[in-house]
Amino acid sequence: MIPITDPKGQFTLIQEKIMSQINDVLLSGNYILGHHVTEFENQIAKRLGVSDAIAVANGTDALVLVLRAYNIGKGDEVITTPFSFFATAEAITRVGATPVFADIDETFNLDPEKVRGKITSATKAILPVHLFGLPADMDQINTIASEHQLIVIEDACQAFGAKYKGKEAGSLGDAACFSFFPTKNLSTMGDGGLITTSDKNIAERIRTLRSHGSSKKYFHQEIGYNSRLDELHAAILLVCLKYIDSWNEKRRLLAQRYYKDLDAVPFLKLPPIINHSTHVYHLFSIQSDHRRDLIHHLKQLGIQTGIYYPCCIHLQEVYKNLGYQKGDFPVAEKMSQSLFSIPLFPTMTSGEQSQVISALRGFEVTGS
Ligand SMILES: Cc1ncc(COP(=O)(O)O)c(C=O)c1O
Repeated sequence: MIPITDPKGQFTLIQEKIMSQINDVLLSGNYILGHHVTEFENQIAKRLGVSDAIAVANGTDALVLVLRAYNIGKGDEVITTPFSFFATAEAITRVGATPVFADIDETFNLDPEKVRGKITSATKAILPVHLFGLPADMDQINTIASEHQLIVIEDACQAFGAKYKGKEAGSLGDAACFSFFPTKNLSTMGDGGLITTSDKNIAERIRTLRSHGSSKKYFHQEIGYNSRLDELHAAILLVCLKYIDSWNEKRRLLAQRYYKDLDAVPFLKLPPIINHSTHVYHLFSIQSDHRRDLIHHLKQLGIQTGIYYPCCIHLQEVYKNLGYQKGDFPVAEKMSQSLFSIPLFPTMTSGEQSQVISALRGFEVTGS
């Protein structure tokens, strides 16, 4: 089976270096908030050109902690996309605020004009997602935010190393969240997350919140969380960080070949190319009116696919109380019915990619 992604393949490439780092952690005797975490935070802050990076337990916690740090809670609204992994909206609900959805455009990201129409006196923040590794239209989103004094929090969980007009994802708003879940382009062998910001007060508050609301040991200013990145994960991530640019480049090269070899296939629509953005292709997602049959056809030929995401967030059962209806966000709903992702990962061989391409080209559309 050609997998859709292959974290094991990626880790195995650098197995010796990872094992040596793991050994280093073991012998350090310091397993929580030690020098690996500090070093990882410093390297990310430097790379992104932000004052602070705060490592936490996972990407969902990163979102929750950042919302808490900005005092977003009950009675507040946060505008976000209905087409993302559920955690984006879940974090908003978990802090007591209300997610307000605005439709996406053909880039799969928030449509800034639709955001404008959702602003009310209760809106506190805009939470764009850089879906599949492509940055959202941040200039427009930041302009809208500054017109209405709103905070901008990037959900960059799928976009480490992506760029928007030359600037790194994670440095484009007031704060940003990353996930290092194993299938992400920068990942560890478990859960991990991180927040970036250049607001020193917010950074300080997040550091307090991640350690039980305490900035001085055994003295607690507020109710917080136990949400820290383990030393082990930080050590693994420090190794992966050395390779991330070459892995992202490999992803882009694979994507280029898909564009070249699949462009003329009439029943497929490839993801749009945005010239001012550098995509990292966390996922290569294509549209087709024949999704179900295509997925079946590929499976028969030993090729795995994935549907991200089969149900928009506004139509999730748990959000029935928000009162959204089918048809509220036509673009997001169309994507949830027609989009699917094909294999793309840094260790993918040219032969494997040829198999995916010929399988797609060989599909015969039958009447239905
Ligand atoms: C867009 C997006 N937001 C948030 C998350 C949550 O991250 P995590 O799984 O690390 O909690 C993910 C990843 O799963 C994601 O893809």
